Amino acid sequence: MGQRYYRTVTKGDFSEEKNDKKVSSRLDELRELIRHHNDLYHGQGAPEIPDSDFDLLWRELLDLEQKYPHLADLNSPSTTVGSRNNTPFAEVEHRVPMQSLDNAFDIEQLNSWVDKVERRLDGEQKISTWVCELKFDGLAVSIRYEKGQLVQAATRGNGIIGEDVTENVLTISDVPKTLTKEAPEILEVRGEVYLGIEAFNALNRSRESLNEPTFANPRNTAAGSLRQKDSKVTATRNLSFWAYQIGETKGSPEIGGHFETLHWLRELGLPVNEHAEKFTDFEEAISYIENIEKMRHDLDYEIDGVVIKVDDLALQKQLGATARAPRWAIAYKLPPEERTTRLIDIEVSIGPGGQATPFAKLEPVFVGGSTVGTATLHNADQVKEKDVRPGDLVVVRKAGDVIPEVLRPVMSERPANSRPWKFPTSCPACKKQLERREGEAATFCNNYECPRQIRGRIEHFVSRGAMDIEGFGEQRVDLFVSEGLINDVSDIFRIDFERISEMEGFGKLSVTNLRNAIEEARSRDLGRLLFALRIPHVGTTVAQLIAENFQDLEELKKVQMQDLEAIDGLGPKIAASVFEWFTNERNGVLISKLQDLGVNPKSEISLSSDVEKTLLGVTIVVTGKLQGLSREEARKIIKERGGKSPGSVSAKTTYLLAGEGGGSKLDQAEKFDIPVIDETAFEHLIKKGDLPE
Ligand code: IVH
Repeated sequence: MGQRYYRTVTKGDFSEEKNDKKVSSRLDELRELIRHHNDLYHGQGAPEIPDSDFDLLWRELLDLEQKYPHLADLNSPSTTVGSRNNTPFAEVEHRVPMQSLDNAFDIEQLNSWVDKVERRLDGEQKISTWVCELKFDGLAVSIRYEKGQLVQAATRGNGIIGEDVTENVLTISDVPKTLTKEAPEILEVRGEVYLGIEAFNALNRSRESLNEPTFANPRNTAAGSLRQKDSKVTATRNLSFWAYQIGETKGSPEIGGHFETLHWLRELGLPVNEHAEKFTDFEEAISYIENIEKMRHDLDYEIDGVVIKVDDLALQKQLGATARAPRWAIAYKLPPEERTTRLIDIEVSIGPGGQATPFAKLEPVFVGGSTVGTATLHNADQVKEKDVRPGDLVVVRKAGDVIPEVLRPVMSERPANSRPWKFPTSCPACKKQLERREGEAATFCNNYECPRQIRGRIEHFVSRGAMDIEGFGEQRVDLFVSEGLINDVSDIFRIDFERISEMEGFGKLSVTNLRNAIEEARSRDLGRLLFALRIPHVGTTVAQLIAENFQDLEELKKVQMQDLEAIDGLGPKIAASVFEWFTNERNGVLISKLQDLGVNPKSEISLSSDVEKTLLGVTIVVTGKLQGLSREEARKIIKERGGKSPGSVSAKTTYLLAGEGGGSKLDQAEKFDIPVIDETAFEHLIKKGDLPE
């Protein structure tokens, strides 16, 4: 480990900066989670969580970073995904911070917000007027005009520092480059850049005709379009803008209210949405929300709520703001969107494990931020329970979620000749009999040779999280399987490149690339291979855990039930499933084939390695930011020496190795009275097997 700087940390040394440490550890966690889900979403196109959950993580990260600027991290996803670093844009410091809004999710929360606001004013002055506006689902920008000329435009960034996107904003036709004659000396206009639904659909139509991938939803497309390096690209995207607020200003006329401000902005030539309204009674604001809820589908842009603002600017000033949001405004979030569309047919898809899942083919409908053409119906019982039938008009919901859902049929619209749908008796891919096992909701195609299953297994095997073989997308898997080039995953390693090079669409370079990618995959570690094999109940973490306890495939081929049961953290159900898989003859043949073809990965952490096993029987949990090595490195060191390093503290933990910002794990250690060690102590421990004197 060489000469490095280690800080000695002992138990109880954390109290002073405890809050910071807690926040810092949550920040670490959020950054890691966001990276993970970003990768699943963008990298692998296989999101695990709904957009709305991701949004919560993202917002929490941005809020904490804004609140604790000293805990900023240059590698945070907020700096790479959201803004500054790794982008070609210069930084812009907002002279007036760009804040967020607090949310209310129902009328009760809204009413208690009003009470709170009025209490805060302590009866000195009653709020007599409110302004309601639409909450546009785009991205906030601040546009700066000096003497009526547009001089700069910036994204929100972290609220304090944003990106300079002037060139790109100049391409938005809604945004005036020059204000009318009476423009003040300085005026920063805040508003939302968005992509209209029709513009979004047209963009996707044109991309489809060019065989380019289509975009998922208008909001993300607007964000991506505004951050283009080349403003010529932005110009082709037809972005729009709504102004709703003022940032820094100098030389503006005296205006008393927000509603009047909107009016003035409109007079200056800025686009201000026509649905903003002023009310003297809060009850009217509630009717406004109800109205908007009904008409939101008729708008040509997406909204995700209504913003309610105190109109009187003097009162706004008096109310002030928290670190995160102004106290004089709140966003009322609208409930998830529902739309009706025609259910064309119900079909069944076959998963890689043979599971037959019914899904609805729909007339494409724009709901919850994207166009939906299919929606899962989960299983036979669900179809029966919902009684949805081909030809029905159905209600579809997406709730900003990843998976669209058919909620129910509109009974009054049911065609007279409609019949209940029946689950097919044979597999649509291989025509073999489908089976619904006793007591299970799922129906299965039991034919291991079913082409859909073969494809599914191969698609999983080559995918990013598994063997990660580049250039082996779904279409190619389809092609290779249908051409008889591969029939099981081992065939990948003896694929006939000569035949491939004769195929249409395969140039010399792409064949070489594919060959190299397959070659590279031979040396993937054992954990990846175990995950790639789709052993029931074995996800990435379990696969890694198993790999840490066996040296190679040879050892696993001879695995005994008690070997698996002895693995700490491997439950009996998983152990049985792994045992069954390895003792199945067909799988044995597959493993032998892989070995014969030179795919025989070793465990990354070989227990027979030369390193002295100083940590046998010792469990060390690692937390916080270490100085000399990453947490991953520390875990590897522990495991190489025969120790264990699970992700959480329990009564079984021997030590907690804590770096900066250890957070909740420190509390856990305190609870279980587990010694907390620093890196110096750790170094001693791994060398000598005990703590320094
Ligand atoms: S006012 C000081 N008005 O919602 C806060 N924001 O969730 C100023 N938004 O960051 C915001 N429509 O990007 C305001 N009519 C509207 C809005 C609006 C959309 C966005 C804005 C803000 C976010 C907060």
